Amino acid sequence: MIIDVLTCFPEMINPIVRESIVKRAREKGLVDIRVHDLRDFSEDRHRKTDDYPFGGGDGMVMTAQPLYDGIRSLLDQGKEGTRPRVVFPTPDGSLFTQRIAETLAEEEHVIFVCGHYKGIDQRIRDMLITDEISIGDYVLTGGELSSLVIMDAVIRLIPGVLGEINSALSDSFSEPLLDCPWYTRPEEFMGEKVPDVLLSGHHANIETWRKEERIRKTKERRPDMWKAYQHKGEDENG
Ligand code: 6GU
Repeated sequence: MIIDVLTCFPEMINPIVRESIVKRAREKGLVDIRVHDLRDFSEDRHRKTDDYPFGGGDGMVMTAQPLYDGIRSLLDQGKEGTRPRVVFPTPDGSLFTQRIAETLAEEEHVIFVCGHYKGIDQRIRDMLITDEISIGDYVLTGGELSSLVIMDAVIRLIPGVLGEINSALSDSFSEPLLDCPWYTRPEEFMGEKVPDVLLSGHHANIETWRKEERIRKTKERRPDMWKAYQHKGEDENG
């Protein structure tokens, strides 16, 4: 998978993708992440990429020219006949979910366009952006952190990236319940003991306990997910 990131702040992206699981995915050749400085595409002699909004208002809007030339050049470098997804992370986009991560993980080529300030010229969104995605109901200063969040969620789903194939399948949001508590050695830490059932060796009881804990946590923290889960059960039972 090829991931291009178009940004005015390459050093917000580079140090992160040089670490941890993403680093190993790159080393294994499973993903190729290319970070491009949007200013390199600006025709302005000061390499400007933003300007005042027509109609007035606070803040700056990113201009069409560098974005158009940047995105077009990345599309042209892609494989002939392919239509890469062009993702624009923005607080007014559709809410990012595990389902969207799964569809992006199937793509051969994804381009992330990082906006700053007030956003980007609407004509670029109309002409070139295929996906407008928000990572939650709060506002960040720019699209770099959001792009990294989306990239991380997508890259870990690429086959071969995670050591154990099962670990991506069983985590919260791949299934409709939140995850259960997990414990490791020692059995007692500062007087706090691991639940007996986990030490019992009784696999059926352990699975029952885990399911109960997942239901308990989901009811308490995510009544919306609990409701959906119950409705799904009703459908399955006819
Ligand atoms: Cl994608 N961008 C910004 N700037 N803020 C956000 C966001 C994105 N998603 C949630 N808040």
